[in-house]
Amino acid sequence: MRVLLASSELHPYSKTGGLADMVGALAKSLASAGHRTGVVTPLYRGIWKHHFPKRLDWRMDLALGDRRFEPEVWTLEPQPNLTVYFIHAPEYFDRDGIYGDATASYPDNDERFIAFSKAAVHLARYLPWQPEAVHVHDWQTGLVPLLMRDQAARDGWVAPPRSVLTIHNLAYQGVFHRKSYALANLPAAYLNPGGVESHGAMNLLKTGIVFADAITTVSPRYAVEIGTPEYGEQLDGLIRERRAELTGILNGVDYEEWRTVGNSHLAFPFAADDLHGKANSKLALQAEMGLLPDLSIPLFGTVGRLASQKGVDLILGALEEMLSCPMQFVALGTGQPEYQTALLSLARRHPDKVNVRIGFDGAMSHRIEAGLDFFLMPSRFEPCGLNQMYSLRYGTVPIVRRTGGLDNSVVDYREDPDIANGIKFDEYSGRALAKAMRKALVLFGQPAWLDHYRRNGMNVDFSWDRTRLAYERVYQGGGR
Ligand code: ADP
Ligand code: GLC
Repeated sequence: MRVLLASSELHPYSKTGGLADMVGALAKSLASAGHRTGVVTPLYRGIWKHHFPKRLDWRMDLALGDRRFEPEVWTLEPQPNLTVYFIHAPEYFDRDGIYGDATASYPDNDERFIAFSKAAVHLARYLPWQPEAVHVHDWQTGLVPLLMRDQAARDGWVAPPRSVLTIHNLAYQGVFHRKSYALANLPAAYLNPGGVESHGAMNLLKTGIVFADAITTVSPRYAVEIGTPEYGEQLDGLIRERRAELTGILNGVDYEEWRTVGNSHLAFPFAADDLHGKANSKLALQAEMGLLPDLSIPLFGTVGRLASQKGVDLILGALEEMLSCPMQFVALGTGQPEYQTALLSLARRHPDKVNVRIGFDGAMSHRIEAGLDFFLMPSRFEPCGLNQMYSLRYGTVPIVRRTGGLDNSVVDYREDPDIANGIKFDEYSGRALAKAMRKALVLFGQPAWLDHYRRNGMNVDFSWDRTRLAYERVYQGGGR
C-alpha cells in the first residue's frame, strides 16, 4: 500500500509525549513491511541540531484566510520506503517549543496547525507516488479529512485517498474562536454543530471525528470509554454516533529502541534469564539520583508529563503515607507548575528518600525505566500509555490504575497469577494507590515472585507487527 501519515510530533525529530513514539514506530513498521510510506511533520527549530534534511524543489503557494502560505518542503529518507516530509515555515515552527513555551501555549496555534494541515493535504494530493490512505493524528491535523472532502467536492480532486484519524487523547481538542475558521477557506456551511462547531467554537478534533472515513484510538478499552460521559470530554454522543467507524488498536513498542541488550542508554545489559544487569542498573540509578545505593530498598518512580491526566496528585498523596516505610522514589517530568513545585518540595522534605528531576531527557527516561523496581502510573485516564509497556520490557513492575490502555496492557495477579506482571487498582484516590504500593512491598519481600513478575513482563510481546496489521485493515477499508 501507499500511506501518508501526518503528525505534529515524530520521534526521533520532535517529541512531547507518546504521540511522537507511536507515529515514528508506525511509519518504521509500515516501511519495513514494504509499504510506500511518507510522514509529513513540521520542521521545528530543534530538529536542525541533530538532523540534516534536504530541500525539495517544491514550493507550495496556499491560501490561508486572506493571506498566502508558502512553505518549503525538506526531506529525509531514514530507511527504504520511508520519506519524512518536513514542512519548513519559519514563521510558525522556528521556535524553541512545539506547542508553546514554559508558561503558555502559543497564541497562534490555530493558524500554525491549520497551515500545517493545508500543506499536508497538498502533499497528499500532489505527491507523485499518490498515497492511497492519509492517516492523521490528534487535533493538530483534525482539519485534514474535511479539507480533502472539500477539494473533492469543489476543486476537482478525483478519488482522494481514504482518510483515517487516530485519537491519541480526547482531552486535547484544538478548540479556537470561530473567527479562526476563516483561515480554513472552507464554505460557511460546515461551521455548524453537525460539523466543525462545538459550543459556538471551532473544534479541530471534532472536525476530524465527523469527517474522517475511519477513526481509531489507541486501545480497545479507551475506544469504549470515550463513548461514555465520564471519559467522552463532551464528545461522547458523537463518538457513539460514529461507533461503527471506530476501532481501538493497542499501540506497539519499538523494541529496537526499548531493548535491554545493545542499548547505548543502558550501561548494564540484562535479559529475562539473567537479571544481574538490572540490579546494577538500579544501583547506578540510586547513585545518579543521590540516594543510597542499596538493592534491599524498594525503588519506586515515574516518568511523564506532569498533567492532571497522569494522576500526579495521587502519587503525591500516596507518598505522604508511604514514605514512612523503607523505600525510595524518583521522578522525571515536566508540566504543570503546581505539580513541579509539589514534587520538588517533597524531595526537599525527604532528601534521603526522594529525588525529582524537572525536565525532558530521553536518555534518562531509559535509565529510570531500567533501574526501578516499580513504575507508578495511576492515570485518571490513559488512552494507551507507553511507559507501562516500556517498564514491562525493562523488568520493572508497573503499578497502574485500571483504565484505558493500562488495563489492556498490564496483567494483575487476580486476573491470572501465571502471567501476572503488574499491580492494578481501581479507585481514583491516593489511598487506593498507597494500598497498591503496599502490595508491591509485599511482592518485593518475596524475590522468587518478584522475578516471576519481572520475567512475565519482559516476555510480553507488544511488537509492532500486530498493531501495523490492524492499521493496514483500517487503511484498506476493513473494520474490526
Ligand atoms: P503521553 O503520551 O500521554 O505523554 P505515554 O506513556 O504514551 O504518555 O508516552 C510518554 C512518552 O514520553 C514516553 O516515551 C516517555 O518516556 C516520554 N516522556 C514523557 N515525559 C518525559 C520526560 N520528562 N523526559 C523524557 N521522556 C519523557
Ligand atoms: C497520548 C496518550 C497516551 C498514548 C499516546 C500515544 O499522548 O495520552 O496514552 O500512549 O498518546 O498514542
